Amino acid sequence: MTPEPDFSQDIAVVTGAGGTLCSAIARNLARGGAKVALLGRTRETLARVAIEIAAEGGDAHVAVADVNDASQLDHAKAEVHRVFGPCTMLINGAGGNHPDSVTTLTRFDPKELDGPSATKAPRGFFNLDAERFADVLQTNTMGTVLPCRVFGRDMVQAGNGAILNFASMNTYRPLTRVAAYAMAKSAVANFTQWLAVYLAPANVRVNAIAPGFFVNERSKRILMADDGGLSPRGEQVLAHTPLGRFGQPDDLLGCARWLLDHNASAFVTGQTVAVDGGFLASAGV
Ligand SMILES: NC(=O)c1ccc[n+]([C@@H]2O[C@H](COP(=O)([O-])OP(=O)(O)OC[C@H]3O[C@@H](n4cnc5c(N)ncnc54)[C@H](OP(=O)(O)O)[C@@H]3O)[C@@H](O)[C@H]2O)c1
Repeated sequence: MTPEPDFSQDIAVVTGAGGTLCSAIARNLARGGAKVALLGRTRETLARVAIEIAAEGGDAHVAVADVNDASQLDHAKAEVHRVFGPCTMLINGAGGNHPDSVTTLTRFDPKELDGPSATKAPRGFFNLDAERFADVLQTNTMGTVLPCRVFGRDMVQAGNGAILNFASMNTYRPLTRVAAYAMAKSAVANFTQWLAVYLAPANVRVNAIAPGFFVNERSKRILMADDGGLSPRGEQVLAHTPLGRFGQPDDLLGCARWLLDHNASAFVTGQTVAVDGGFLASAGV
């Protein structure tokens, strides 16, 4: 077994820390000794994670902020400084999709020209709500950029640090129905490369994880049927996942720890690493 990395000198800011994947990462970093700032919009969900971390003897602090709002992020940073000190690692987990930005159609249908999707017309590219589309772009792109600007300052001043962004299978090729999300997650990998090059002189590494299909509260509605079985889309996904199952949050921990560990991945930057049960490797035939 690889030895557990020692994060005892680290102050980790985890955005989306109340969510399925990043609550597991936050708990794991705390187990490795990091002081963890849990950032998101909903205090209650973050507080639950903080209690779990405290119960295991870890150190966590809840910092409520919207990743789309630079001034809220500045306030959160001041709070993190007061409680823990400057940030040494940033995990940009806040993000996701919104049902209104997802088309019901997988291919163009002339019926979508009939009116807004709130009417009986099916939701396609032409009658999708453009504002919801833009919201998804905003949260998954600027919601990564802004925390990098706010918390990245601590790391460049220290001359050391690691940033971990969240990409997706959509980064590589867009899935049907989720154009905004796919476009945004593709941008995340591109920005990860750009920022890695830019911050290299300051010894701040920037990488991303591209999770395959993990069931969270939102994707449950898409991947699972009402009876608890698989939806047709869930069946399609598993048929294209060679390891034959959905991911569990703990499946991400080894990769996240590696990419954040200043020793183990000291020469790794600008990479997007897929943790996907083989989804990307499979041609499906
Ligand atoms: N689950 C998957 O299969 C999968 C696959 C590929 C990529 N990803 C990506 O991995 C990341 C984590 O996914 P997850 O499954 O853990 O999602 P999740 O359970 O929905 O958690 C996302 C978290 O982000 C927070 N958030 C959303 N918008 C925010 C905002 N504007 N400001 C601050 N916080 C915000 C949410 O909390 P509040 O609403 O309380 O703020 C929520 O706790 C996301 O970027 C997602 O796109 C997930």
